[in-house]
Amino acid sequence: MKRHLFDTTYYVGACHRTKTLFENLFPIPNGMRYNSYIIKDEKTALLDTADESVGEEFLENVIDTLEGKPLDYLVVHHAEPDHSALVLKILNLFPAAKLVTSTQSLKYLNQFTGRDLSARAEIVKDGDELKLGKRSLTFIAAPMVHWPEVMVSYDKSTSTLFSADAFGSFGCSEGNLFISGLNNIGDWTDEARRYYSNIVGRFGVNVTALLKKAAALKIDRILPLHGLIFDTNCGFAIDKYSLWSSYSAESKDVLIVYGSMYQNTKKAAEILGAQLSQNGVKSKITDVSYTDFSYIISDIFKYEKLVFACPTYYGGLFPRMEQLLNLVKKSAVKNRKIYLMENGTWAVTAAKNMSDLLSDLKVEICENKVTVKSACNSDSLSQIEALAKTISNS
Ligand code: FEO
Repeated sequence: MKRHLFDTTYYVGACHRTKTLFENLFPIPNGMRYNSYIIKDEKTALLDTADESVGEEFLENVIDTLEGKPLDYLVVHHAEPDHSALVLKILNLFPAAKLVTSTQSLKYLNQFTGRDLSARAEIVKDGDELKLGKRSLTFIAAPMVHWPEVMVSYDKSTSTLFSADAFGSFGCSEGNLFISGLNNIGDWTDEARRYYSNIVGRFGVNVTALLKKAAALKIDRILPLHGLIFDTNCGFAIDKYSLWSSYSAESKDVLIVYGSMYQNTKKAAEILGAQLSQNGVKSKITDVSYTDFSYIISDIFKYEKLVFACPTYYGGLFPRMEQLLNLVKKSAVKNRKIYLMENGTWAVTAAKNMSDLLSDLKVEICENKVTVKSACNSDSLSQIEALAKTISNS
C-alpha cells in the first residue's frame, strides 16, 4: 500500500500484531511495528528495510509506493536484522540501487548475508550528505544507540530526524501511526521506556551524545524505526530521552520488588508498602517471580527509590532476584536509592549478597535493612517501620 506521510516522504513499514516476543526476549502484548520510509525526490531512497516476519507486506508497500520508478538508494542506518533482513531482496529487486551505509554497517551486512556487498555500497560517515534533489540526508553517527554502526540522518528541508532505534517503542498502538493520534501523549511513555531501558538503557552516555548533536538541529518530526512517528511534540520525546539517558528518575515514588517462596517475604513487602502509605509515600509492589524482567527494568528507570526483598537461597539469593539484579547491574542504572530486605531461616545472607551484587553501580545503598527470620515477628516489624521512616524522610 502507498501511504503518504508528508512532503515526498512515504511509509512502507508494517506491524506484526501477533508476534509475542521481540528479539525472542521481550513480551510485546501489542505486537511490534517495523518502520521504514521512502523519499521520492529527483532520486528515490528507501530508508532501511524491515523484519523478515513482515517482509511480504513491506515489499508490497515498497513496490506500490515507487509506482514503477527505479530505486536509487537503499539507506541502512542500522544493520540489525529487524531492519536489514530484506536488504538482499531489495538489492536484487532493484539492481541499480546503491547501498548507502557506514563502513561498519557494511561489514555487519556482509556477515549476516554471507555476501560481499561492497560493489553495491556507497559508504557514508558522520557529516556526509546524500543529495536526493530538493531534499537531502545528512548522516550523524550514533554509535551504540543501539549497535556500534548506527547512524541517524537529518533532512534539513523538512526538519526531520530519521532516528533509527532511538525514540522507538514496543507495540503497534492500535491503528495509529502518529503521536498526534494519541488522546494523551503520556500513553507513549510506558512502552517507550520499557523499550529504551531494555534495549539501550546501558548506553546512556551514547544516547546523551546523540541528544547533544540533535540539540543543534531544528527538529519538527522524528521518524523512528519502531513505534509511533513524532509528527508533533518532538520535545516530549527528547525530554524523556534526556531523563532516561542521564539515569534521572521520573518518579520520586518507591518501587518494591520482592521474591517470596512461602509468602513471608511478600508479607514483609506488603507491610512496608502499607507503612509507606501511612507516611504519605506512594509505592508500587512487584513480584519478581511473576513479572517479566523487562517491566521491572523499566520501572527501575522510572522510580528513584528501590526496595529489593528476597529470601536467602543456597547461601546466596533467591534465583529470580539474582537474575534480575544481574540485569540491573548490566543496565548500569545510576542515581537511585536502594533499600534491602532479607529473609532466611538459618544463615541469612541475602541483603549482603544483594549489596555485593549491586556494589559496582553508582547508587546509594542504605545500611538500614530489614531481616526477617522465617516469618515477620515484632522484631522484623519494628525494622520495617524504621525502614519506612528512613525511606519517607529521604
Ligand atoms: Fe530495532 Fe537495534 O534494532
